[in-house]
Amino acid sequence: MTRQRTTVILAALALASCRTPETPSSPNRNRQMTTIPGYAYGSSQLPHSPITLAEFELLKQSVLLTDDDLTALRMSRPILEPQVEAILDVWYGFVGSTPHLLKYFENVPRGVPDGDYLAAVRKRFGRWILDTAAGNYDQSWLDYQHEIGLRHHTTKKNRTDNVQSQPIIHLRYLVALVYPITATLKPFLEKGDHDAAQVDRMHQAWIKSVLLQVILWSYPYVRDGEF
Ligand code: HEM
Repeated sequence: MTRQRTTVILAALALASCRTPETPSSPNRNRQMTTIPGYAYGSSQLPHSPITLAEFELLKQSVLLTDDDLTALRMSRPILEPQVEAILDVWYGFVGSTPHLLKYFENVPRGVPDGDYLAAVRKRFGRWILDTAAGNYDQSWLDYQHEIGLRHHTTKKNRTDNVQSQPIIHLRYLVALVYPITATLKPFLEKGDHDAAQVDRMHQAWIKSVLLQVILWSYPYVRDGEF
């Protein structure tokens, strides 16, 4: 990698590290928040997910996500909330230092990472950590999962932030990132006051939830009738 390119990447990451505004304290408050551009969880404009709640239940059973996991996720929320920016630093650090992943944030006409795009997505990503940990996986959560899938897919990528970037995030990388995203979360869970067994319980719940979400996000990538 050339020095100039490295400088551009570092500049993009620096731009992207602006702080996530306002931290919600409950799932209900989450839904009323409109301060993050493009964050549409709970919006009445959002169409229903093509997955029914009954199908979602079967999917939850298939990844062994139980009520106990939802309780463990909620337990993780106050631990993770003050660490959101530090977690994002790790995840963005990984994407930023992995050229074939950073490419998906490229401003295509200029051939460099789009710092504004990175920063805009980062704010929604921070909120996603809290929404995942809220463990309130109802119809409106399901609807927003579908929207997030569309935003990774050609259907809606780049539209929320009005950017000229790569048209799709390839499905293989969505699935691949389940591992780094969940593995790197464990040290943050360990910073709470819980023993190793409880940390493991929260960590397992996170692995199941992220996997479940990526499965939901894969819907637009799969041919009709094959999901
Ligand atoms: C487990 C895997 C992944 C998770 C948990 C994840 C999480 C998220 C979240 C929460 C958002 C914001 C959704 C919103 O608009 O509210 C987002 C958007 C985005 N993610 Fe991912 N992501 C994953 C995989 C990837 C991969 C592999 C890439 C490739 C570098 C990527 C690049 C992006 C981009 C470019 C956007 C913005 C899309 C747009 O609206 O234009 N993501 N992601």
